[in-house]
Amino acid sequence: MCGIVGYIGRKEAYPILIKGLQRLEYRGYDSAGLALISEQSQLNVYKAKGKVADLEAYCSEKDISGYVGIAHTRWATHGEPSSVNAHPHFSASGRLALIHNGIIENYQTLKDKLSKRGIAFRSATDTEVLVQLIEYIMISNNLELLEAVQVALHQVIGAYAIAILDRNHPDTIICARQSSPLVVGLGSDGSFYLASDASPIAEYTDQVVYLNDGDIAVLQEGETLHVVNIDNVTQHPKVKQIDVTLGQLEKGGYPYFMLKEIFEQPGCLRDCMRGRINADRDKITLSAVIDFREKLVSARRIIIVGCGTSWHAGLIGKQLFESLCRIPVEVEYASEFRYREPVIFPDDVVIAISQSGETADTLAAIELARKSGAFVFGICNAIGASIPRQTSTGVYIHVGPEIGVASTKAFTGQVTVLSMLALTLANERHTISEEMYKEMVVELTQIPDKMEQALKTNEQIERLAPIFTYAKNCLYLGRGYNYPVALEGALKLKEISYIHAEGYPAAEMKHGPIALIDSEMPVFVIATRDKLYEKVISNIQEVRARGGRVTALVTEGDERITQIADHVIELPDTLECFQPLMVSIPLQLLAYHIAVCKGKDVDRPRNLAKSVTVE
Ligand code: AGP
Ligand code: GLU
Repeated sequence: MCGIVGYIGRKEAYPILIKGLQRLEYRGYDSAGLALISEQSQLNVYKAKGKVADLEAYCSEKDISGYVGIAHTRWATHGEPSSVNAHPHFSASGRLALIHNGIIENYQTLKDKLSKRGIAFRSATDTEVLVQLIEYIMISNNLELLEAVQVALHQVIGAYAIAILDRNHPDTIICARQSSPLVVGLGSDGSFYLASDASPIAEYTDQVVYLNDGDIAVLQEGETLHVVNIDNVTQHPKVKQIDVTLGQLEKGGYPYFMLKEIFEQPGCLRDCMRGRINADRDKITLSAVIDFREKLVSARRIIIVGCGTSWHAGLIGKQLFESLCRIPVEVEYASEFRYREPVIFPDDVVIAISQSGETADTLAAIELARKSGAFVFGICNAIGASIPRQTSTGVYIHVGPEIGVASTKAFTGQVTVLSMLALTLANERHTISEEMYKEMVVELTQIPDKMEQALKTNEQIERLAPIFTYAKNCLYLGRGYNYPVALEGALKLKEISYIHAEGYPAAEMKHGPIALIDSEMPVFVIATRDKLYEKVISNIQEVRARGGRVTALVTEGDERITQIADHVIELPDTLECFQPLMVSIPLQLLAYHIAVCKGKDVDRPRNLAKSVTVE
């Protein structure tokens, strides 16, 4: 949700913190703040409403010296976005400063108790209760900060990643995690970096420790990383090497990360398939399937859980597993699944899909599935995130860091992994012929080249986009494998251009949404050549008959739809089940260009956060 950054070492902390916040700004950005311990051992806290640039402007005349600091971009859950509610929050005496990602669920009870003891709260956040509680415990029991943190966290219910500075101990940062991500980077010069994900750390060190739930870490320059739990038992987290290049974290000449990520997709899918599809292009090898063959091949049912775009990928997965592997599949919103008392059998395989690997609802769904004895398989992008660590096994999509809030390359990466998984299981279960398997594997390897072709529609779409900026509502229609892509196209438009859009199965339109159609309503129809092609043509006619304006996505060379649609966008042909990979490209570009025409900040849409680590 929010972004946390910290540094302790021999370099000036301020530039590291600001750059780190910029890298994390995609996670949440209604306000930002930082705390530094100055050379005179003063604890300076600066906060501003708005973006990191606003904080930078605010700090321009301030004392920004210091080698120790923590910083935060906030995505408000409790209390409006304002400089008072921005983090860091101070303790009553001003000695401690704390930043927090997550929600303290019992904050009201704790706040009431502390208020009765005379502590005055300055903000409306749940977070402030933590810093006040820690100081209260520290002073009233005469404890060291680490001990006070341990006692306080015993009383806290909820999710947190926190970092604390103590004016009286300027050589230390204490941080802790429970259900919210936190990574510690180990500098080669004895310094420590701290962040919500590895992106602010990658340019300084490739050695990181992903903290586990319940871990409390003490960072002191020149000392080894000390990690304990809330009962003071020493923990031994593993040091991991990260593999993120700076180029992956920067825009590389594109005006927005979203456009860069759309254009990266052919390369990303090659990376996703690399080492998994052999040079002869007749065999897919997924190590997770080799290791857990029996469990996966004999699955009685698959339940796919995810949110947003990942849920849409799951809907495509359902069709792949059902038609190729003949395994029944249910696709559930993780947020509903977790509270629905679902029936889960021990021989079910639950597939959790998540780009970030940190989505709170998906993590809770995984926990429920595990408790019910199901085998949980993760499909994730962020290496080392919570979801891959909490699933029994899984496959990374390997599309590189996705920074744009609107998910693009993660979606096509997820669909590619689902395709490879479905083909592997179908081959093992002998539900498709060897010939068909090989034909499909070859076609899958050709998708990146065909995507390059599909990306050539960019200029045409850029020219078309201004026509749609007036729209208040848009309809996206698709059938079969393309129905989830219609949902995804509509979600993209809603997220970044704030135009209301609905995705619908094309044939279902006549059961309701057709009432909305008039000449003001753009209708985007996915009408590629497949077994429902003729039917979709009829659906287009139904829209036309009511004055609707149709933009159709068609297979190249299509002459029939060109006659009846207002605009056509031509795409390379591929197998029906891989068409979502082709069709996604122009729909992503449409959403992007419409939003740019409307002057929207594409990478930072209002109210949204990249990774939703709260319920
Ligand atoms: C996609 O454009 C969205 N921003 C959002 O729906 C996202 O897909 C959802 O929050 C799930 O995130 P995850 O894949 O990181 O779990
Ligand atoms: N719940 C806290 C707040 O509203 C933290 C939100 C966040 O994770 O950014 O301030």
